[in-house]
Formats: sequence, C-alpha cells, structure tokens
Amino acid sequence: MIIVENISKTYSSGAPALNGVDLRVEKGEFVFVVGNSGSGKSTLIKLLLKELEPTTGKIYVNKKFLNKITRKRLPMLRRDIGVVFQDFRLLTDRNVFENIAFAQKVVEAPARQIRGQVLAMLSMVGLLDKYKSFPNELSGGEQQRVAIARALVNNPSILLCDEPTGNLDPVNSWEIMKILDEANKRGTTVLVVTHNMEIVQAMKKRTITMSGGKIISDVEKGGYFYED
Ligand SMILES: Nc1ncnc2c1ncn2[C@@H]1O[C@H](COP(=O)(O)OP(=O)(O)OP(=O)(O)O)[C@@H](O)[C@H]1O
Ligand SMILES: [Mg+2]
Repeated sequence: MIIVENISKTYSSGAPALNGVDLRVEKGEFVFVVGNSGSGKSTLIKLLLKELEPTTGKIYVNKKFLNKITRKRLPMLRRDIGVVFQDFRLLTDRNVFENIAFAQKVVEAPARQIRGQVLAMLSMVGLLDKYKSFPNELSGGEQQRVAIARALVNNPSILLCDEPTGNLDPVNSWEIMKILDEANKRGTTVLVVTHNMEIVQAMKKRTITMSGGKIISDVEKGGYFYED
C-alpha cells in the first residue's frame, strides 16, 4: 500500500528533514508515527500526498510511483487518500452536511448517491443530529469528527492523519482514535502521527518512532521507543 525507499528530504534552508527513511505499510494496517518535534513526521505525510518531492528516494502509494506522477494525475492519486489535520480545516461558510458532500462533489459522485453517503458517514462519527450545524457551532471534537467523515466519504484506501487530536482534550482524543480504529476495521489503511503517548501505549498498534529524520524504531503492538 505504501512503500518508501531510502527517502531523504532537504528543504532549501538547512539540514535534512528526512534522511534515509525506509518504510512499508501493508493494506489494512493501522500505524502510529511518533517522535520529537522536528523529527520529520509531517514531512513524511506531505511526501506521501505529493505535496512535496523527495530530494532522493522512491515512493509508491497504492502501486503508483509518486516520483513519476504528473500534476495532471495528482487528483487521481489524492482521491484515494483521505487526510485529517490537527486544525480540522472545515469550510466555515458551509454546514456539516455540505462540508462532507463537498468532498463527494469534487470527485463528481452521482447526485443520487451523495445524500446517502454523507448520512452514512455522519452516522459513523455520531453526528447525524448536527448535520445542519456550522463549524463554529461545534466543539473541537465534533469538528474533527466532521473532518474524518469528510476524509472517508469517498471511501479512500488510505487515511493519513497528522496530529488529529493535537487540539483536543483527552476524552475527545479517545473518541477520535476510536473512530479511526473503526475505519481501519472496515478496511481502510490508517497512518496516524501523534504526540499522544498514552493512547499509543493503550491501543497496541504498530508504532514507528522518528528522530532526526530517521526511523529509529518500528514495533508491533504499541510498545514504543521514545528518545527525549
Ligand atoms: N517548509 C519548510 N521549510 C524549511 N524547513 C522545514 C519546512 N518544514 C519543515 N521544516 C524542517 O524540517 C524538519 C522536520 O519538520 P516536520 O514538520 O516534518 O517535523 P514534525 O516531526 O512533524 O514536528 P512536529 O511534531 O513539531 O509537528 C524540522 O527541522 C523543520 O524545521
Ligand atoms: Mg508535524
């Protein structure tokens, strides 16, 4: 599903953000990515989305060789990848239903399918009763649930999350992680960057630790090695 081969990434200013990263994520896996601030986690996510190009190395996502994908074919790649960020990024002038439906319209889903799909997603994240609310009428946890519904509505094979609980309290953080786990159990491959070590320890998933642009540990079932 995801193959990263000997990737390095150096931004125009300064030291390498990634330096010799190899990673393989199989279909259906749930993977946490942890590590100190500046260790390269977000850079890795951006490379998988082809928001950035690697300085060296190869990346394959869903059997597509990203290095060779043209700008024109980028939407094809991205429609099969859902993304969730720390800061929700909802459309503030559209209500919950419209925010999720918008993702379906972008991929030109048939109109008759959209309503059912959006409602199914709202049901999955437990927000059916808020479908008419605007983002500023929702709590942070609710906004993030909308963002997850939006990320999943086109049924992507991969869901990438960069600190999805970074702005949330512990109760909401747990709810979000449970929803991500649920999405994974339904077949989506899930990669979650997080600083929430308590949840990482408790959920017992594969955990990759980054430090200084390298992967310094990769363990099954929630143990992690953390360098301070
Ligand atoms: N656009 C950029 N231009 C130059 N340097 C950058 C840029 N983005 C990130 N970096 C640098 O690359 C390194 C890795 O950054 P990255 O954002 O990937 O870290 P991170 O692990 O996501 O950190 P955090 O946990 O704080 O989000 C850092 O040293 C950072 O300063
Ligand atoms: Mg980051």
